[in-house]
Amino acid sequence: MDKNSREYEVCVCRHVTRGTIEDYIRENNVTDLKELCKALNMGNVCGACREMIMEIAASI
Ligand code: FES
Repeated sequence: MDKNSREYEVCVCRHVTRGTIEDYIRENNVTDLKELCKALNMGNVCGACREMIMEIAASI
């Protein structure tokens, strides 16, 4: 699946999609990685998704 798709699963461990992350960032104006991971319960298993989460936050 296209990484830019809203349905793309960014955090595979926690099943969090790009759309969910984008909406949360827009609605709450949060771009801090730690805060995002805590709020959406992601990035806390293998950590492989953190870089992409930061990229998404930077692009909004
Ligand atoms: S892919 Fe997000 S913690 Fe593993």
